Amino acid sequence: MVAAIPASVDAEGEHARRAGAELQVLLGDTEKLLDQNLSDRHVRGLRDRILGSLSSLPLLLRLADQERGASAATPDVGRVRLLLAENRLAELAAEFSNLSSAYPFRGVGILSVQVPPERIKNALRLHKTFCSACHDFPFTDTERPAFRLYDQAKAESDREFAARMVTGIRGDVSTGLDNPFTDEEIAALLALYRTAESTAEAELR
Ligand code: HEC
Repeated sequence: MVAAIPASVDAEGEHARRAGAELQVLLGDTEKLLDQNLSDRHVRGLRDRILGSLSSLPLLLRLADQERGASAATPDVGRVRLLLAENRLAELAAEFSNLSSAYPFRGVGILSVQVPPERIKNALRLHKTFCSACHDFPFTDTERPAFRLYDQAKAESDREFAARMVTGIRGDVSTGLDNPFTDEEIAALLALYRTAESTAEAELR
């Protein structure tokens, strides 16, 4: 196999993005388990999410490898599961951090783009139509709650939150469960969540 140099530095294949985003979220979720004072319920929810994501990780990385024609690292999923089971969270975070360097989430077209005000207005419309019902006044007393996206965007790094937007939004069966938004729309939603305090406040602008 030939080590692939992307044709353009700006290119980011779909599979590379997906793998990178998933690893970024795995790292972020592990850091949440490590750092934050979470309720037992949220801890269970996060551990579940990590386990769920681990089952598809080898396939995602393989697709990313095929796309770029080079293999970066094969995760030892058995070891990763053991670290989680034994609550060796610092080692688990180190594992995800290594994998994440091998499969970085670059967020091309989403991060570091200028978003004109009219696109933020459009993002507000998207948010009100598709997201606000669950995310604006979320019920958090459950294992895997929705959170206020306006808060989450400010509490996390842009990269981590963008990765969560890539992995966390699903369409329905009609869109094949893929993220139904374009990069431009995701970038605009990010800009909305970062700059506005709430839907009501954004509407007054
Ligand atoms: C039917 C309710 C519902 C709707 C509608 C909805 N979400 Fe969610 N969303 C959730 C729940 C519940 C979770 C937590 C899932 C989990 O923990 O696995 C979530 C997770 C997420 C995450 C990942 C958060 C994380 O910490 O990783 C993001 C980002 C997100 N949603 C964004 C959106 C956006 C943007 C929209 C609108 C386009 C939207 N959601 C619409 C319920 C919803």
